[in-house]
Amino acid sequence: MPIFEVDNLHLHYLTRFGGKIPAVAGVSFSMEQGEVLGIAGESGCGKSTLVNGCMGLFIPPLWPTSGDVRVEGESIMGRTAKDVRKNILAKKVAMIPQGAFNSLNPTRKVKDFAADMIASHETNMDRKEIYDRLRERFDLIGMDADKVLNHYPIELTAGTRQRCVIGISTLLNPKMVIADEPTSALDVTTQKAVIKMIFNLLDKQIFSTMIFITHELPLLRHVASRIAIMYAGEFVELGTTDQVIFDPRHPYTKALMGSMLSAEPGQKQKKPVAIEGAPPNLANPIQGCRFAPRCPMAREECKVNKQEIRMVGERQVRCDYAE
Ligand SMILES: Nc1ncnc2c1ncn2[C@@H]1O[C@H](COP(=O)(O)OP(=O)(O)OP(=O)(O)O)[C@@H](O)[C@H]1O
Ligand SMILES: [Mg+2]
Repeated sequence: MPIFEVDNLHLHYLTRFGGKIPAVAGVSFSMEQGEVLGIAGESGCGKSTLVNGCMGLFIPPLWPTSGDVRVEGESIMGRTAKDVRKNILAKKVAMIPQGAFNSLNPTRKVKDFAADMIASHETNMDRKEIYDRLRERFDLIGMDADKVLNHYPIELTAGTRQRCVIGISTLLNPKMVIADEPTSALDVTTQKAVIKMIFNLLDKQIFSTMIFITHELPLLRHVASRIAIMYAGEFVELGTTDQVIFDPRHPYTKALMGSMLSAEPGQKQKKPVAIEGAPPNLANPIQGCRFAPRCPMAREECKVNKQEIRMVGERQVRCDYAE
């Protein structure tokens, strides 16, 4: 049985004037234990909205429109935030939100923040147990607990804060982690340390399955077993890492690969080509393929016919001309 399933999920933001912005428009995928699914796409395509929806975290103005999310076969849609926090979050699926290193409470020492957070998931652990477990976990991931736990966030670098948040979020040994751009806004050396830590936790089987969101396709080449490419609220391609990186079929995936500075180290560097134009304004109704106005291969009918995601060989592509 898949550990995590998302079924035709539609989510929208409600505007002040009662309008709806359909930020996620029919996303489906499922994850087997042990998989790392990378999700990539340009800024504003809906990655963070999707992960919030995947966790049932509907903070207004974000609302579910339709579809289902199941964790180990159990639907989490329609459940209260309290219920999700108590029974799913951190215990079954841990979430590392975008900009997580800013989520530590500036007025609390790291260990107290951790204890508050773990207690909010209604475990039976007392503070002493939580501290001991934190110490053990930080040892395991090669962080000096004394140098970190007794400090306020302001005394730590952004990279250390990020590693703390990851250590704390995964303390209850969730089966799965959803990491939303865990390395963005960090310098390159720190990014490497954070990635190393995440994969150290995977190697040590602290968790076994992960959704890893990033702008950087070349990074996914090294960390993901499958990759989904997202554009304007939809998945446009979903396949194995090799399929998506080395043989992209959707024109947007091709354009995204072509716009990267270094898609593959060791390969002759081609000059990166920017993707002309801008994504559609989701507040306006969209007819036809969402990428058509920017697609170098678009035909007249692409502007009229909505493209459905379908199997092309062994991967999914949302383009009638993917062959
Ligand atoms: N609170 C909000 N109210 C209205 N629209 C929103 C809100 N938050 C996000 N959006 C819109 O939803 C769309 C998706 O945003 P989202 O933050 O999910 O993108 P993203 O892919 O995570 O981008 P980034 O890579 O920059 O993090 C965007 O068009 C954005 O403008
Ligand atoms: Mg985001």
